[in-house]
Amino acid sequence: MHNVLLLGSGGREHALAWKLRQSKRLGSLCIAPGNPGTAALGENFDIAVNDFETLKQLALDKRITMLVVGPEDPLVNGITDFFNNDPDLAHIAVIGPNRRGAQLEGSKDVAKAFMKKYNIPTARYQTFTAETVDKGYAFLESLTPPYVLKADGLAAGKGVLIVNDLSEAQLQLHDMLNGKFGEAGRKVVIEEFLHGIELSVFVLTDGESYKILPEAKDYKRIGDRDTGLNTGGMGAVSPVPFATAPFMQKVEERIIIPTIKGLQSENIVYRGFIFVGLMNVNGEPYVVEYNVRLGDPETEAVMPRLESDLVDLFEGVSRHTLHEKDCQTSKLTAVTVVSVSGGYPGACQQGIEITGLRRTAGSMVFHSGTAIRGGKLVTAGGRVLAVTSLGGSLAEAREASYNTMKHIKYKGKYHRTDIGADLSSYLENLSVHA
Ligand code: AMP
Ligand code: GLY
Repeated sequence: MHNVLLLGSGGREHALAWKLRQSKRLGSLCIAPGNPGTAALGENFDIAVNDFETLKQLALDKRITMLVVGPEDPLVNGITDFFNNDPDLAHIAVIGPNRRGAQLEGSKDVAKAFMKKYNIPTARYQTFTAETVDKGYAFLESLTPPYVLKADGLAAGKGVLIVNDLSEAQLQLHDMLNGKFGEAGRKVVIEEFLHGIELSVFVLTDGESYKILPEAKDYKRIGDRDTGLNTGGMGAVSPVPFATAPFMQKVEERIIIPTIKGLQSENIVYRGFIFVGLMNVNGEPYVVEYNVRLGDPETEAVMPRLESDLVDLFEGVSRHTLHEKDCQTSKLTAVTVVSVSGGYPGACQQGIEITGLRRTAGSMVFHSGTAIRGGKLVTAGGRVLAVTSLGGSLAEAREASYNTMKHIKYKGKYHRTDIGADLSSYLENLSVHA
């Protein structure tokens, strides 16, 4: 049995808590800081994910035996090293890479150099600093638009710019190197634009063996048909119809195996999730980015499809016995639709009462930005709730999630109406040509 401490406060963590709660091997579950959704599954503690000392005290007080890290920030800040190196905490299994492993997400330059070194397919690139800005301007001139500029460090999902015009790209490069994204942008990766369709592949590894979890497609733009501003993610679908067996075999051979071997060659003991953001370019997979955690809202679609015991898998990760574990995936399709606050991804009003959550039978409702105020459930963030339904087909799962969405009400509520619609037309085309 494991007493688990889960870090984070979003829909991803609610879905992880929901899955952990089903484990036969779960003792107690603590979440820091958690949200009203996780409060129903365990005990929330109002401790920030980067407050390592207070988390240590909690871990000792609650006799925690397993730490599961949801977001990237504490990983990049070295929470795994902090736990592993402290004699009072070293017995605790930590699910999440150490600081060096987390650089795969914490530094775009480190990630690109890693891919280059281990021949992992990715867009051609170069990295620039203020000292080499002139070479950066010249490199941009050698590329064809659109131009992709990435702040090296963590920038809360806002550090990637895709620009159509050359002089605009050069201006943006100048501004990034001069602090537009703070320290994160003191180095900038410029890369070739990849034309294709994206998907997210999730791998759980103990550093040697690995399990490929269900893949998912994320919908990043605020508007229907992928229009408007980028967001944290407006919905997800799993499985992804174009992630066919031959495609996934290429992903495994060209990307997953070389990534795990590369980490070993670098002497990085990696225990946790690797989230590979991929572009399918005419059937060939290219890595767009690595993340060292699960995705949000992808987790809300992936966890309901995972049939195996999550605590058992995590124990395999910490004991180095992942190869002995079973990782079964449901054949059902999961469709997750996210509802957000009016104005998102810009400034949005918060503290608005949410109603209708009693009429959600047939779906799972994961909390992202919610809070309890005066005994009422209210909005407390940009992304508010994620509704997931499982169905025998994509159409069935979509219908169930959108049906549930209708019952959830708050002033200013917005959600995309086309999550999975592109994949439905893809499936229809397939059956026409079959
Ligand atoms: P990243 O944070 O690196 O995943 O970039 C954010 C988003 O920008 C990705 O999810 C893609 O939609 C897009 N993007 C990043 N790099 C490229 C690229 N080389 N070609 C096309 N789109 C890209
Ligand atoms: N949904 C994308 C992410 O979590 O980064």
